[in-house]
Amino acid sequence: MKIGLDRREATAGSYDASVSGLFERSEKEDALPRSLAAEDKLLGGLLTRAWDGREIRGRAKELTSLFRPDGKGRVLVAGLGRRPLRSDTIREAAANAVQKLKGRGVRTLAFRVGSFLSEGIDAEAAVRAIASGAALGGYEYLRYKSSTEGAVEEVTLALGDDLGRTEGALKKSLDQELILVDSALFTRDLANTPPNEATPEWLAGEAQRLGKELGIKVTVFDEHRLEEMHCGGILAVGSGSVHPPRMVVLEYPGGARSGKTVAVVGKGITFDSGGISIKPALNMAEMKFDKSGACAVLGIVRAAALLKVPPKVIGVMACAENLPGGSAYRPSDVVRTFNGKTIEVTDTDAEGRVVLSDALAYAVEKYRPDEVIDLATLTGAVVVALGENIGAVLGNDDALARNLQIAGQAVGEPLWPLPLTDPHRDMVRSDIADVRNHVEPRYAGTLLGAAFLENFVGGTSWAHLDVAGPSWARKATLKWVPAYHPLGATGFGVRLVGRYLLDSARSS
Ligand code: BES
Ligand code: ZN
Ligand code: ZN
Repeated sequence: MKIGLDRREATAGSYDASVSGLFERSEKEDALPRSLAAEDKLLGGLLTRAWDGREIRGRAKELTSLFRPDGKGRVLVAGLGRRPLRSDTIREAAANAVQKLKGRGVRTLAFRVGSFLSEGIDAEAAVRAIASGAALGGYEYLRYKSSTEGAVEEVTLALGDDLGRTEGALKKSLDQELILVDSALFTRDLANTPPNEATPEWLAGEAQRLGKELGIKVTVFDEHRLEEMHCGGILAVGSGSVHPPRMVVLEYPGGARSGKTVAVVGKGITFDSGGISIKPALNMAEMKFDKSGACAVLGIVRAAALLKVPPKVIGVMACAENLPGGSAYRPSDVVRTFNGKTIEVTDTDAEGRVVLSDALAYAVEKYRPDEVIDLATLTGAVVVALGENIGAVLGNDDALARNLQIAGQAVGEPLWPLPLTDPHRDMVRSDIADVRNHVEPRYAGTLLGAAFLENFVGGTSWAHLDVAGPSWARKATLKWVPAYHPLGATGFGVRLVGRYLLDSARSS
């Protein structure tokens, strides 16, 4: 999808359709808001009639499509609900419009930016929200589809006379937003790739390809190198698969001369069957998305390099396939990890924390980062706790967690904090090794996951994002997730951490 700005009013250009925002009518409001006067004229007064007849009320998610009597395309009115307007409402409305128009012969679409402004939403915020909503909402994974219905190809953000004067500044914001969004779509393509194609070697190859494109250093550690480095966690998890594990490190040198270093570490389980502690068949197919954290790391590094963010960014992907088999690791195994700590494997399905143990320890020892952020589809428990729209943030640095939460709020990728407490630290201790990866009963599974990971970050400032809920959109619940999260991988975390890295110039 091509997305650009135009100085003119939407009504001045020629588009297959144009979209205007409309706030919900208040009790006192009788007349159609004046902001829609131009559209109403084009439609020969149809909007006024629809408004008077309460066919159009401006409720959030409401979308009305009317044909211009002059035959020059359609006019759409997108409800924005009551004020105060949140940028997320705009993002959803834009996604919704693009989705509704698919297969309806609309190739070019304009949004009337001026109609989306409100207290707290300036032109820049509106441009960002519309552009990201359209691009994220219009995404589909088509690699294995032989045919598809025509989709919106060109989106124009029509500024009109008032806003046209600030086109230069808005163009800069748009360019930045589009890099974040394209990086999220890049991550979606990776995470949607089925596990017969997306093996750990394949993911490592994709990282190398990206590294070449960006001109940054990428190092791939294969199973032999991992053996030499005593990465017993990644090796154990990968041992049941014919596709050997990989750890991948990407290094973006940073845009500021003396900026901080941020390590971003991702769980990359290309398929999680549970291993010997095998999962039930129901929903097991979803576990191709268990590589979402590592795929997000690639998207984050891509965004960081293209945006030239100030901090140095180290991306680490811990990739393995978790399968049962004659050589698979088993419950009761003890493995030694990169930092020398030992793990008693009490459940092979708690494999994410086992691969992350090596990756986190390697990142903090080798690069001594100021901050380490990990992204992982770590626990089913977090989906029970926070649902499919919100990720959990845990760790040892409240300020870092808070700043990530703020960045998430800005881009429509919400995080909510969960605590890490001493009893949970105690519960992951093992009788025969340093830590154990699974604890009965399964209460507070997300907290236990974080308490385990804490053993591998030393004293480094650390935030753990458990993104098992929002990393993909499930068909059965699709209507309750935001429209900018269409079916399948969402790329959750890419825009959030990308935004955080952009803003962290101030805090470094
Ligand atoms: N990848 C899963 C977590 C998961 C489950 C994500 C469902 C999204 C939906 C993870 O490896 C896992 O299996 N975790 C176990 C941990 C338990 C054995 C301690 C879980 O959540 O049940
Ligand atoms: Zn698992
Ligand atoms: Zn898993």
